[in-house]
Amino acid sequence: MAKLYVNPNIKRSKINKEIYGHFSEHLGRCIYEGLYVGENSDIPNTNGMRNDVVAALKEMGLPVLRWPGGCFADEYHWQDGIGPKESRKKIINTHWGGVVEDNSFGTHEYMELCRQLGCETYINGNVGSGSVREMSEWVEYMTFNGVSPMAQLRKENEHADSYEINYFGVGNENWGCGGNMTPEYYANEFRRYETYVRNYPNPDNPDRKPIFKVACGPNSSDYNWTETVVKNAGPYMDGLSLHHYTIPHNWSHKGSATQFTDAEWYLTMKHAIYMEELLHIHGAILDRYDPSKRIALIVDEWGTWFDCEPGTNPGFLYQQNTMRDALVAGITLNIFNKHSDRVRMANIAQLVNVLQAVILTEGEKMLLTPTYHVFHMYKDHQDATLVDSYVETKEIGLEEENMVPNLYESASIAVDGTLTLTMTNLSLEESTPIDGQIIDKDIKACTATILTNEMDAYNTFDAPTVVAPIAFTDFTFTGSKLTFTIPPCSVVKFTVTF
Ligand code: AHR
Repeated sequence: MAKLYVNPNIKRSKINKEIYGHFSEHLGRCIYEGLYVGENSDIPNTNGMRNDVVAALKEMGLPVLRWPGGCFADEYHWQDGIGPKESRKKIINTHWGGVVEDNSFGTHEYMELCRQLGCETYINGNVGSGSVREMSEWVEYMTFNGVSPMAQLRKENEHADSYEINYFGVGNENWGCGGNMTPEYYANEFRRYETYVRNYPNPDNPDRKPIFKVACGPNSSDYNWTETVVKNAGPYMDGLSLHHYTIPHNWSHKGSATQFTDAEWYLTMKHAIYMEELLHIHGAILDRYDPSKRIALIVDEWGTWFDCEPGTNPGFLYQQNTMRDALVAGITLNIFNKHSDRVRMANIAQLVNVLQAVILTEGEKMLLTPTYHVFHMYKDHQDATLVDSYVETKEIGLEEENMVPNLYESASIAVDGTLTLTMTNLSLEESTPIDGQIIDKDIKACTATILTNEMDAYNTFDAPTVVAPIAFTDFTFTGSKLTFTIPPCSVVKFTVTF
């Protein structure tokens, strides 16, 4: 039996709801078809946004949405996406499939989507190919309520009231697609650009928070990037981004999303849990320059990246989503919860139809992926307080170099005192009996939900509920003890009251 301890008396950090954030880029069928179909579509919509997708996302709990990229952001010129749709510029989406981007989804449409979703806004500005003036005017256009050329332009585009920007990214992957910069050069550029991301006063909303400015951070283990950018520009940023994708093999052969061996399963898990090491080391570098943890680590791109679905446009990054993705999501969110003292936002890539999506669409059809169900199961962690927890683990796997711990867990307490405990079992064969103890508490009631299936099970448009959560009843509790057996290849969530 593996021992599990949860100590609700030892409260750690707040699990910012934004850790459960998402990312939507002008890439493949994420924005167009996935989220936005236009007002004249036969697909039921409200102001162009798909009703089915918006409803499912609201039910899942979507706290913040990053837009418009990604690599697309550093080629995006916001003025192309405002004004009458028929006169908006048509451009080539050079990064993603070379398709025509008609700019029918722009600033106003993004803000409308966030309004319908009830989520916070996270705009990524263009440093790679845009000017300081262009970025500054975009912020003025969106947020200034007084008399100015950009405020006037917004009013002419039928939006008298200003919008709110919660988070603003100053460039994306500027070490790569965002301009191939060195960290020294980017640090200086960040200081210059962020100066003109102004916080305009808004007399109608005096409590509006200042824009939270996110600097472009490292690619995975580029520790030199973190060190250099934080050393040279740390005082000017509120957050530093981090991108890490779970790719089983390598960029030229990532591996199939649905057909994989047991060995590839463990290899994938190993790449996913590498996130823990990244957070430790980047966090340690940040601690040296920012011991008070003022600067947040913002993991604004993460998730699985497999070979795209056979027969689809390789530039669209469309992939299926199996139980393997569910486990990657469950593990990673547990890791983020445990590092929520420094990680204050994360955005899985990407929301619909791209990479590790929570929703897939085909015309008017829609399905919820296993990853969706994990986000839904974990939503009670949002804005709760992380509490101390520990589970005994053992190393599992098929190859010596790819061994992984079998269990990952995290626990939080909500304002009303309810405890949420989430746990993943990475093993493909072994169920693990758990001897749990909730220190100093008398359990009054407990319910649980489980997501489990074969490792390569997934939902299709014809069979959309093959992988779906069900009630989990294989547990007992008495006093402070909670005993259960976690099945292989599963994600489990407990809700406990005292
Ligand atoms: O999410 C797909 C791409 O991955 C993004 O555009 C880019 O930022 C990253 O390399």
